[in-house]
Amino acid sequence: MTLAILAKPEELSDLRLTELMNRSGHNPDDFAVSHRPVLLKESVDNLLLQEGGTYVDGTTGQGGHSEAILRAEPQVKTVLGIDWDPRSMKSAQARLAEFGSRFVPATGNYADMAVLAAGRGITIVDGVLLDLGFSSLQIEGAGYGLSFQVDGPLDMRYDPDGPLTAEEIVNTYSEHELGQVIRRFGEEPRGMSIARAIIKERPVTTTGQLASIVGAVLGRRPGQRVNPATRTFQALRIAVNDELFNVERGLDAAVGLLAPGGRLAVISYHSLEDRIIKSYFNREAATCVCPPGLPVCNCSQTPQLRIINRRVIKPSSEEIESNPRSRSAKLRVAQRI
Ligand SMILES: C[S@@+](CC[C@H](N)C(=O)[O-])C[C@H]1O[C@@H](n2cnc3c(N)ncnc32)[C@H](O)[C@@H]1O
Repeated sequence: MTLAILAKPEELSDLRLTELMNRSGHNPDDFAVSHRPVLLKESVDNLLLQEGGTYVDGTTGQGGHSEAILRAEPQVKTVLGIDWDPRSMKSAQARLAEFGSRFVPATGNYADMAVLAAGRGITIVDGVLLDLGFSSLQIEGAGYGLSFQVDGPLDMRYDPDGPLTAEEIVNTYSEHELGQVIRRFGEEPRGMSIARAIIKERPVTTTGQLASIVGAVLGRRPGQRVNPATRTFQALRIAVNDELFNVERGLDAAVGLLAPGGRLAVISYHSLEDRIIKSYFNREAATCVCPPGLPVCNCSQTPQLRIINRRVIKPSSEEIESNPRSRSAKLRVAQRI
């Protein structure tokens, strides 16, 4: 019997959950919250919560932002909480149990937000939050394979049933394809050399093995604080989870669901994501998209968004000091016209 078809993910059977928690290196009974929500006040304040409103937390994780929205005054009616990772969702559900049916869980891809919402009777919402990337729960769990600091299988999927693992990429892609992935998604200038070294060492099956191959290619300058494998791990994670494509689709889905006046708040953690969000907001806020030089506008563009902050909102020095993982966060906010 395939465990994957036992139940809808938000109604995970205990058996399936135990199997997933074991695989990810967590004690199945331990739903302790380990992720500290980033830019919490800034993002929730910017959603301009409405009494009786409905909100989507597209990346619920362990539920930190969802909880803040549900606790806020004025009191919102519903938070639809989406996450691809059923382990995180289970943790969020335990945390948010006190809110009863005001928290509506949906395990799935935020890019499919419209379908996930419609399946739960929600067709229009007052705000959407996306807090991209991964959580502390995921980076600290060896079985996710997201970290070079803990040795584990080269998995990297947020969705444990997703079609592609990092192990498959490093062991089956051609040298050219692998080099392109590392260069493009990791912005790693030595991507081709790293790909060549990986291919020589195949099969590569653990995060530790991959980190030492990358370390041997790049070396470590005296005093260098960032692990040399950081960019390669970022690249593989983005490729495995098709992250950039999902961001673009997720923004579209969010704009499609938002009521006029509703807010979209997006927190990103690296420049590839931030560039997509910035150019998406600019495009959807533009009043004219005619090629430059045309004497008269003939594009009949209707802007969908109004940009709320042209300059990104960043964590305060106090937040960075108390939660160093927040240091690269950038918040952009737009309003549906
Ligand atoms: C930074 S964490 C969110 C943390 C959360 N805001 C909190 O306070 O606990 C990002 C979450 O997004 C999820 N995620 C990443 N890509 C996703 C996607 N395409 N669809 C749904 N969830 C996704 C990850 O599984 C992870 O739990």
